[in-house]
Amino acid sequence: MKIVVSVIKADIGSIGGHIKPSQKLKETVSNYIYEHGIKTKEVIDYRISSTGDDIAILMTHAKGTLNEQIHKLAWDAFVEGTKVAKEQGLYGAGQDLLKDAFSGNVKGMGPAVAEMEFDERPNESFIEFAADKTEPGAYNLPFYLAFADPMYCAGLMLSPSMNKGFKFVIMDVSHTEGDRLIELSTPEELYDIAALLRDNHRFVIESIYSNNTGEPAASVSTTRLHNIAGKYTGKDDPVALVRVQGAFPATGEVLAPFSIGHYVAGFMRGSHTGPLMPVKADCPISYFDGPPVVSAQAFSMRNGKLTEPADAFDQPFWDWVRDQVSQKAMEIRRQGFSGCAMLPYSELEYGGIVEKMKKLDGKFKIRK
Ligand code: 13P
Ligand code: 13P
Ligand code: MG
Ligand code: MG
Repeated sequence: MKIVVSVIKADIGSIGGHIKPSQKLKETVSNYIYEHGIKTKEVIDYRISSTGDDIAILMTHAKGTLNEQIHKLAWDAFVEGTKVAKEQGLYGAGQDLLKDAFSGNVKGMGPAVAEMEFDERPNESFIEFAADKTEPGAYNLPFYLAFADPMYCAGLMLSPSMNKGFKFVIMDVSHTEGDRLIELSTPEELYDIAALLRDNHRFVIESIYSNNTGEPAASVSTTRLHNIAGKYTGKDDPVALVRVQGAFPATGEVLAPFSIGHYVAGFMRGSHTGPLMPVKADCPISYFDGPPVVSAQAFSMRNGKLTEPADAFDQPFWDWVRDQVSQKAMEIRRQGFSGCAMLPYSELEYGGIVEKMKKLDGKFKIRK
């Protein structure tokens, strides 16, 4: 039987600013999925977690990807949660629900979605990533290193089941009229892949496939909220799913590149550059509405039934990494708004700065 793993994530309100959702909010979303998904047998299993101010619903089912019932279930759970967020006076209640009514699937409606359909292995293992205060391109570098660089993925040298490399499907997220995609394969097209992935705002890994088996290895949400809303409504806060072991990198090979804490977009007001900090599940947001964070929960699964999560960044090694990343955050914050500390104008185009620049433009005079 083909199993689908779907993770659908949204910010529907949080305590004290953009910090974390309330316990009651998470329970409301969880109860909704239980009542309308588990009891009806639409969903095989599910888990609810939060990363910063976003709630992620992880579901397993057998209904295919982009399934209307599954997506509507998640949407309705977020709508139900939004009612509670309003009752509690949470900040940004319903923030990521950008459309008034559900139609077809949640793509283009605000929530982030990553899905994978596959024949379940007898020892199926995968990681659910959830990031807050950043954009989908934040996964470009870590996934490039985990799937294409033997400096991080020793399996590319050591494992015969990975010797043909991986196929990367990359999306041009600035193309708003439809999905504009390119497929490139490692190792032959490594430099082409790098040339695209350097631009995290525009070219984003959408999915990765094993060249040895053709099996799906990774899936990333590619939502760009400002393309949907036409103005700044919050950062895109992407989720991702990665299958591990066997024909795929080992869990530790996928986690290793997150030790870099590379600089990404999305710090404070979605307008600044900050280092991506690997955090434990359910971690809140703090300093300068950040730093950008990513959680990683590993699962095993049998017939779609999930184990409890193994919190992959909840280990002493990552405390040291978090200290290093905090230093990187302080370094870039020392220069405030200057230069690369703030995002380029093209990424701020829907913010109040557009009005300001228009006003200032009229005041410029050409010296004779
Ligand atoms: P084990 O021998 O502990 O299963 O580890 C194999 C492996 O893949 C480690 O990366
Ligand atoms: P979120 O997109 O996570 O809600 O953050 C918005 C923001 O502007 C924080 O400063
Ligand atoms: Mg928020
Ligand atoms: Mg968020």
